[in-house]
Amino acid sequence: MSVEGHAREQWGTRIGLVLAMAGNAVGLGNFLRFPVQAAQNGGGTFMIPYFISFLLLGIPMMWIEWGIGRYGGTHGHGSVPGMFDLLTDRKKPWAKYLGILGVVMPLVVFIYYTYVVSWMMGFSFFSLTGDFFGLDNVDDMRDYLYSYQNIFESSSHGGWVALLFFLITISFLGWVLSRGISAGIEKLALIGMPILFLFAFLLLARVLTLPPVEASPAEGLNFIWNPDWKSLGNAKVWLAAAGQMFFTLSVGMGSIQTYASYLRKKDDVALTGLSTASTNEFAEVVLGGTIAIPAAVVFFGVAGATAIANRGSYDLGIVAMGVVFQGLPGPQILGQLAAFLWFFLLFIAGVTSCVALASPTIAFLQEEIGLTRRNAARSVAGLGLLLGLFHVVFYQKGVLDEWDYWAGTFGLVVFATIEIILFSFVFGIDRGWEELHEGADIKIPRIYKPIMKWVTPLFLITLLTWWTVTEAIPNVLMQGVTEAGDIPYLWLARILMIALVVVGAILIRRSWVHKTTNS
Ligand code: ALA
Repeated sequence: MSVEGHAREQWGTRIGLVLAMAGNAVGLGNFLRFPVQAAQNGGGTFMIPYFISFLLLGIPMMWIEWGIGRYGGTHGHGSVPGMFDLLTDRKKPWAKYLGILGVVMPLVVFIYYTYVVSWMMGFSFFSLTGDFFGLDNVDDMRDYLYSYQNIFESSSHGGWVALLFFLITISFLGWVLSRGISAGIEKLALIGMPILFLFAFLLLARVLTLPPVEASPAEGLNFIWNPDWKSLGNAKVWLAAAGQMFFTLSVGMGSIQTYASYLRKKDDVALTGLSTASTNEFAEVVLGGTIAIPAAVVFFGVAGATAIANRGSYDLGIVAMGVVFQGLPGPQILGQLAAFLWFFLLFIAGVTSCVALASPTIAFLQEEIGLTRRNAARSVAGLGLLLGLFHVVFYQKGVLDEWDYWAGTFGLVVFATIEIILFSFVFGIDRGWEELHEGADIKIPRIYKPIMKWVTPLFLITLLTWWTVTEAIPNVLMQGVTEAGDIPYLWLARILMIALVVVGAILIRRSWVHKTTNS
């Protein structure tokens, strides 16, 4: 049942909304993924396509999603199926089925992302106890991380530890989510985000005043800030930069729309959307980029830091940083404290994104299916627990990367392409432009109108075509899989995602048939 006409939840304060939206965007993507992407793609080389992607993909998509979200919310729909239905003036039955991607994809990301966030809680704890202090080289620290991730390994702390921190994390998230928008999510952001920024500034100050070991902090900054214009011709760097832009801003996911649906009709989206996108970029480039990269460069040199980043997604942020904290001047306890600040900052960044990722499914279950918030939150946490265990148990088989690729990378571009076509061509750019300016505190620069209508869609279609050919098709065929034994698990991971889409489609069908027969 839709709750159209009924009072919906709303954000309590503007600062709460801004921090919650910033919490939605600022996540592991800023502090773990960005430094790895930047280092793997040549540091400053990466930054030009990255900023172009911000201007031509990130900002326009952000405004569009805020606008679609508020429009949906004022008509009683806090999740994308109902919003896409509205964009077609309820005239195209297929639109709501396409919208299921905006529920299932964030749910899928929520599930695997929560498991990774739970590692951060584990590593915060082990920083305080000094558990990994003594493993002061990259190989030992990597073994430590791998043993944490492998619950079958009889490691120093035993496989059950990862499971325990996962259970604590998912229970905490279930509790926050069940408290609702203002008393749960907004409060978490109001407490968590200032702590996150405080910890980040403390760490930044520490890193930038490090005495040189293999290199100086200035060489680290130079590595990330020295652009190389030749990179503009390198397609791989463009794909990496655009992918990072989507992931970090949480655009193409469905979660911004749900958060924006709790705005009032006359609440500004133009300035607030822009300021949360800018806050995210500040957290990513200034804080995320200038903590992990310069720290790794100081201890391992530019070549060493790049080689570490090339090993894998977590090697820079967890492995290298774990070694860095052990090498800080002064007594060990200060190093442990700095390590705690880092991992707990990651934990906060992660949980504020987790609640956003879970929100589309909760809104869907509440408004389209008729569950209470509490039951919707319990269902999502329960599903997160059940399917999260799949990742806890089979992490070593690559199932998490499989979900991350389809729902957290490629799928975002597919979804954003569908969304912008619906917004600019089906709903119509003129209506859309007017909608974005309803209650707006600033006038969006006019140049963004043709950008939203032509430049961003063309950019997206080009990316999508390129990506499909170079990566998605080889990936479907599992061409890059090195262990044949992993293939059945990867298929199982895919089948689970497809099953979620099918269940979503069945629920939509039931809900809309019900509405039609009742109206
Ligand atoms: N935008 C979130 C992040 O950066 C998902 O981690």
